[in-house]
Amino acid sequence: MPADQTDGTAGAHAVGATGHDGPAPTAATSGAATGSTGATATLAPGEGTEFRDRATVALADVPRVPGSKKPDPILVADGVVRRFGGLTAVDVQHVEIQRHAITALIGPNGAGKTTLFNLLTGFDRPDEGSWTFDGQTLSKVAAHKVARRGMVRTFQLTKALSRLTVIENMRLGAKKQRGEGILAALVKPLWAKEERENTARADDLLRRFKLDAKRADFAGSLSGGQRKLLEMARALMSEPQMVMLDEPMAGVNPALTQSLLGHVKDLREQGMTVLFVEHDMDMVRDISDWVIVMAQGTIVAEGPPDTVMADPAVIDAYLGGHHDEPLGDDDPLDEDHLHYRHEEDPAGTPPVDGHGATSTEGGTR
Ligand SMILES: Nc1ncnc2c1ncn2[C@@H]1O[C@H](COP(=O)(O)OP(=O)(O)O)[C@@H](O)[C@H]1O
Ligand SMILES: [Mg+2]
Repeated sequence: MPADQTDGTAGAHAVGATGHDGPAPTAATSGAATGSTGATATLAPGEGTEFRDRATVALADVPRVPGSKKPDPILVADGVVRRFGGLTAVDVQHVEIQRHAITALIGPNGAGKTTLFNLLTGFDRPDEGSWTFDGQTLSKVAAHKVARRGMVRTFQLTKALSRLTVIENMRLGAKKQRGEGILAALVKPLWAKEERENTARADDLLRRFKLDAKRADFAGSLSGGQRKLLEMARALMSEPQMVMLDEPMAGVNPALTQSLLGHVKDLREQGMTVLFVEHDMDMVRDISDWVIVMAQGTIVAEGPPDTVMADPAVIDAYLGGHHDEPLGDDDPLDEDHLHYRHEEDPAGTPPVDGHGATSTEGGTR
């Protein structure tokens, strides 16, 4: 995919810096996205370092311990607990996410990363706990309102609507859609203007993400990697302050990963805060300013990438988890495994680890 590999220059253009001959109203109203637009426009993707350098300095003195306080947190969570039956999927006492930085959330499969994302973004309800975003309480706020407040997320499994076209998917991500309101719907000039602005913003983003050629295609016809790009582009439609990406690189063709990486770095250089889940440690090391490690629902370590990855608690967390399993969502539930084993055991199978099924089959023949 040569087009994707050369994605560089497009990714560097900030929204509103390209193609707009109008006043670029959407970009201008977003405090987060302004300021750096001129700086990034002349840089290759991921090359901008203004915010990276700032984040490095800001985080230099932060203690490398779970729950450590940050100098300028945009997200602060306390006592967040989520149980599924007898299982405590998330039990986070305290966590702070530094503004304008890229924070990686890592940990073995089943650690609770996706559940924490779901809770913080209003897609799930905690049993206990509260959190604030940009100083305002966000617990119990519904997902669509969370997005309006400036925090958007993407999903481990992409949620692009395959029966809608690429541009239609993008429009769904827009923050203001007053045309949907009963009154406004009657006042055509109101929503017509907004629709034009949303479309212009969508087209800017599609160009930036090299999806403009796919504009009229059904999202369902895109490759896995292109769908990830579409999801990220759609998330940016609402001009968020903070973007949460759940395994943005999983299942993405290697030719696209560099470009995706560049896009994530660009988000920071445009003044956004990024929290992302990723398994690839090289990638984590490359782009994150700070790393938070979860295991069995709790935060077990925090710190800059190099420090964290040398931490024995982190190595333990991974060795104790299911690190050999692929990145997918569909990791079999342990209970199912156990269940099968139990069924087989009474048949007299000796406790041969992991090969119970095969030996049972052999024995009954
Ligand atoms: N809806 C659910 N019902 C029951 N258990 C769940 C549900 N969602 C997640 N879990 C369990 O919670 C734990 C954490 O899952 P998850 O947050 O998906 O982990 P991660 O994203 O770190 O791999 C796992 O043991 C998982 O099986
Ligand atoms: Mg997950």
